[in-house]
Amino acid sequence: MAIREILTAPDQRLRQVSTPVEVVDDAVRSLMDDMLETMYDAKGIGLAAIQVNVPKRIIVMDLAGEEEEPSPLYLVNPEILDPSDDTNLYQEGCLSVPEFYEEVERPARCRVRYLDYEGVERAIDAEGLFATCIQHEMDHLNGVLFIDHLSRLKRDRIIRKLKKEQRQAAFA
Ligand code: NI
Repeated sequence: MAIREILTAPDQRLRQVSTPVEVVDDAVRSLMDDMLETMYDAKGIGLAAIQVNVPKRIIVMDLAGEEEEPSPLYLVNPEILDPSDDTNLYQEGCLSVPEFYEEVERPARCRVRYLDYEGVERAIDAEGLFATCIQHEMDHLNGVLFIDHLSRLKRDRIIRKLKKEQRQAAFA
């Protein structure tokens, strides 16, 4: 396993639409292992493959608290079915938009169909933080960031600050 570099906004590579995985083989499992290690290292709860510059429809998540046993979830080619009409508001963050947290409104519940670590088709019902996290990660697969759900004013302000930080880091 290896920790990979996480792309940060406004890197245009994050805007790619990821393509479906054809076969869940050892190469895909190895990528998912790296993604999980990278996510744990960065103290995130979800990571999409595009965030480590692999434009494939793969997500890893773990919503277990710090005191709990790890409970990793691997989702290949996930599809969201039946999003609810009622919504939840959660303060979201993203490893590709470091240090910024903003409230985003999304469907409160949904069903997700996906292939697991072994390539077996599964479906789960998600609600609460779980539903929000899955929808946030699904957005990544379509080149969308959580800041795209904010007002243009807020989004532009975040992008400006990120660019400034990146310039300063480059000259440090
Ligand atoms: Ni994210």
